[in-house]
Amino acid sequence: MVYVAFTDKPRAEEARRWLVSRRLLAPGYAPVHDEEHGKVGFPVVRRLEEVDALVSGVRRMHLPKRPEPLPVRVPYDVVGGVALIKEGFRGVRYASEASKIMAVNKNISTVYVKVGAVSGVERVPRLKLVAGRGEPVTVHRENGLSFKLDVERTYFNPRLATERRRLACEVGSGDYVLDMFTGVGPFAVTVAKFSCARVDAVDVNPVAYSYLVENIHRNRVGHAVTPFLCDAAAFSSDRLYSQVIMNLPFSSLNYLGVALRLTRPGAVIHVYSAKPPSEAEPAITAICEDLRGEPPSKITWRPVFEYAPRREVVRFDVHL
Ligand SMILES: C[S@@+](CC[C@H](N)C(=O)[O-])C[C@H]1O[C@@H](n2cnc3c(N)ncnc32)[C@H](O)[C@@H]1O
Repeated sequence: MVYVAFTDKPRAEEARRWLVSRRLLAPGYAPVHDEEHGKVGFPVVRRLEEVDALVSGVRRMHLPKRPEPLPVRVPYDVVGGVALIKEGFRGVRYASEASKIMAVNKNISTVYVKVGAVSGVERVPRLKLVAGRGEPVTVHRENGLSFKLDVERTYFNPRLATERRRLACEVGSGDYVLDMFTGVGPFAVTVAKFSCARVDAVDVNPVAYSYLVENIHRNRVGHAVTPFLCDAAAFSSDRLYSQVIMNLPFSSLNYLGVALRLTRPGAVIHVYSAKPPSEAEPAITAICEDLRGEPPSKITWRPVFEYAPRREVVRFDVHL
């Protein structure tokens, strides 16, 4: 038996929030709909002493408890309406994990397992469909922005949302920014939106480029972001940039020379690298000394995310 607090249907949402704010809503029960009298009842944890104006009556009722969702045993990322499970867990039935994921995330319509690491120049994962519609094109929302992409043909990491926002807050409105490995444009668009800086966004993957163009328009930053379909190694510009974003963790250092050629004195290059600071810092210093004749004025770093157990992608801020 559980107490159920009834309210008039038009005020049901207001009443629900009132009950939640006072921790009165009983977990594990669905609301009761009394269509005949135009009421909605919310199961509550105790008999309400004083009946607020929102609650028109309290009844004690027999209600079935909703089954608790079973815990998901595998880590997964959610990109728009797609869930991506990382493979490699012993004794796991991915199809049953997928149905648990779909039970707790009602807007997920497709679940894939990522097979192996991301590969190729485009850094795309190999995906195996385990549940749902098999629809790889989706719209992902983060930081109040939306990004259309194809999870099978473009790279996208939803765990970088906070990092993108953080970086955007470090860019000033007068900056000229180069995003050398932009993918479908999450860094470029976020930086343009939150800092009002001008951004040139480069990617070599034609599929990523077409979504980049769409995402620029979708987020109304066409005045600030210019897309380029080309290899970053061959990219040239009349402009010298004050900030460069290099999110290509397994080979970003190979392109540091290109970034140095395109930057003005006092610029900051944000290098994302899978190398630990003990290796990356001397390598960055040596490249700068070799190509500019002097070391960077300062290198700072911070871990960004763990891509494997005890292995991190680190952002190095190289101040020239
Ligand atoms: C790790 S992803 C990062 C994408 C994006 N910055 C993000 O955070 O979602 C790297 C991207 O660099 C692109 N890429 C790889 N090599 C490139 C190159 N030589 N020139 C331009 N883009 C390249 C890939 O197509 C991919 O979209």
